[in-house]
This record gives sequence, structure tokens and C-alpha cells, in this order.
Amino acid sequence: MKALILVGGFGTRLRPLTLTMPKPLVEFANRPMILHQIEALAQAGVTDVVLAVNYKPEAMVSILEKYEEQYNVKITFSVETEPLGTAGPLALARDILAKDDSPFFVLNSDVICEFPLRELKKFHEAHGCEGTILVTKVEEPSKYGVIVNKADSTLIDRFVEKPAEFVSNKINAGIYIFNPAILDRIELRPTSIENEVFPHMAADHQLHSFTLDGFWMDVGQPKDFLTGTCLYLSHVAKCNPGSLAHPNAGYVHGGNVLVDPTAKVGKDCRIGPNVVIGPGVVVGDGVRLQRCVLLEGSSVKDFAWIKNTIVGWHSTVGRWARLEGTSVLGDYVTVKDEVYVNGGSILPHKSISSNITEPQIIM
Ligand code: GDD
Ligand code: MG
Repeated sequence: MKALILVGGFGTRLRPLTLTMPKPLVEFANRPMILHQIEALAQAGVTDVVLAVNYKPEAMVSILEKYEEQYNVKITFSVETEPLGTAGPLALARDILAKDDSPFFVLNSDVICEFPLRELKKFHEAHGCEGTILVTKVEEPSKYGVIVNKADSTLIDRFVEKPAEFVSNKINAGIYIFNPAILDRIELRPTSIENEVFPHMAADHQLHSFTLDGFWMDVGQPKDFLTGTCLYLSHVAKCNPGSLAHPNAGYVHGGNVLVDPTAKVGKDCRIGPNVVIGPGVVVGDGVRLQRCVLLEGSSVKDFAWIKNTIVGWHSTVGRWARLEGTSVLGDYVTVKDEVYVNGGSILPHKSISSNITEPQIIM
């Protein structure tokens, strides 16, 4: 089976992390974001994965070669010379997607969920129409594509991308399965699947919805990345609790704590709920961590207090420092001892020696 992942551009909304690392390689719960998707695709029987990219970073090529072997999938980079939007990349990869009559998956690269891909495929094959969109419900639908079904039907009546006025709270989860016939609707030019393809498919009664059970999040921006981390850890706590730090481990407070085996945690810490500690991280004594992610190689000195924050690779948080308010440190950032940071987005290699009391970007 085939799949295409829309990897897209520079991940600007996840800066400063994406200044160093392409978005798909940023670790979500200690594994590159895209690995969650490749693994789910492989488990659903996919053997051919197309990565639709605007550029082809060397880091990505070498890391993905490893996954090809590990998951027994063939990964092809489909590189655009200009951004082709969310539909154009399907036309560019036509040779692979249309090489046989079987349906293929399309995934936005920044969504995290349980990936019910086998069920999605079964449902899609049963109704026989051109496409199926995985849908979920959210409280704030305005930043997503919104779906209205026909009465008592899974057929989609209307698809409205980012509606200005409330239409419905059922949204496009960014995961699809299509028959190759969809390719006849898409020309090789910048095209939005949400604005230019789905509305026509809905009008032709060719588009169904399949409701996602369980958690879902678009983790393409820091605030949602942290929320998605909480949802994911709660899910892991239910279905694979052994992979989390044991709730009776002295430092665990409130559960949902994921610690890489190579990380070191000092004495008298209070960690959790909802914390991810990456490989090689060093946490000092008496540290308080909640709802935060410490990426590989970072270190947190004694008595620091961190909440709602992503600490970038190899960054250092000083003694008694306090970070909160959706702060994001790029890689190799230093926050000096006793400094307070509230909502700081701090570019790589910066050293912060005075307080940041209001959310701002530090360049
Ligand atoms: N190859 C390629 N080329 N990929 C692209 C391009 C492009 O020109 N533009 C965007 N993408 C990729 C992004 O990297 C992402 O994986 C996906 O397409 C969707 O783009 P986003 O920029 O993340 O869109 P969004 O989050 O605002 O909205 C989309 O996702 C929502 C769910 O998270 C839409 O599909 C919404 O309808 C949906 O609800
Ligand atoms: Mg997105």
C-alpha cells in the first residue's frame, strides 16, 4: 500500500525549534514526529511512503534511510521547486500514487493521534467513493477545516476551511484515504486540497467522513505541541504504562512522566504530571518540572522550576531559574541562575541573564 506525507515547508510556527531541525524530525515524546506516522503507516500495511517536501534537508535523508530498514518501507522524497500547497504534491507524486488501482493514505505531517488507519481503510473500501477524511471534534474549530455531514450519513455535504463564522465543531483531522481517481481533479500547480478539491468532491457526493475515537492534536505550534504531549502521555498511561516512569518512583508527581533511560534525575525532584525528558538530559537536585518537554542533551540545574515550556537541545537552565507561560528555548540556549522567563521564545545560542516578564521573541 502507498502513502504520502505532506511535510511542507519550514515549520515557522514551531520556531525556534525548527531553526535547527526540520519539523518532522523534532522529537515528540522522544521520537521524531514523523516516526509516529511512519510506524503507524507501516503497521497498516504501507510499503511505499512519499515525503512531499519543499526542500530536502540532509539530516532528514540520512535519518529516514535508517527507518526504511527498521520499518521495511520504501521512502521517496518528492521535492517541489515551488510550494505546491496541500494538493499539488499529489499531482507531483502521481507516478507512485497511481501505479496501481489501490487507495493511498495522505497525512498532514504535524498531527498526532492513535492513527486508526486499518479501520479507516476498511470503511473507505466499504463505501466505494473517492475519498474519506478522518474527523474529530474540537471546541475551537475556527483554525481547522470544518465538516458538515448530510443528515444521518457519513457523506460530507460541505467542507469549509478555517470558517470565519461557526459552522460545526467537527473538523478535518488531516488524515485521508483516496482512490487514485482523485488525481484527475488535481493539476500540477500550487493547489489547496481543502479549498479547491474537497468542496468539489463533496458536491459530487464522493467524500465521506470517518470519526476518530480518542485523542488528536495538530502539534505544529508550541502551545499545541505541549497540549498534544499531555494527551499522548495520558494515552500511553492507559495502554502502555510500563513505558512511563513508575508512579512510585520517588520523583514522579501526578504521573504521565516519560524519561529516556540515558537521562539523569537528581535528588528530591518533583516531576509531573505530563513531562518528557529526552536522551542525555541532566536534571539537578530539587527541580520542579510540570507540563514540559526537555529535549536531548539539555540540563536543568538545582532547584529550577519549569512549567509549560519546551527546553531545546543542549540548552541549560540555571539554578533557581523559573520558566513558564509557553516558553520555548532553541538549541544551546543558556538561562542564567535565578532568571525568570514568562513566554519567551528564545533563539538558538542566546544567553539570558535578565528576566523576561512578558511573552516575546529574543533574537
Ligand atoms: N509538500 C508540501 N508543500 N506540504 C505542505 C505545503 C506545501 O506547499 N503547505 C503545507 N504543507 C503541509 C504542512 O507541512 C502540513 O503537514 C500540512 O501540509 C498542512 O498544512 P498546515 O500549514 O499545518 O495546515 P493547518 O494546520 O493550518 O490546517 C490543515 O490541518 C488541519 C488539521 O491539523 C488543514 O488540512 C485543516 O483542514 C485541518 O483541519
Ligand atoms: Mg498544521
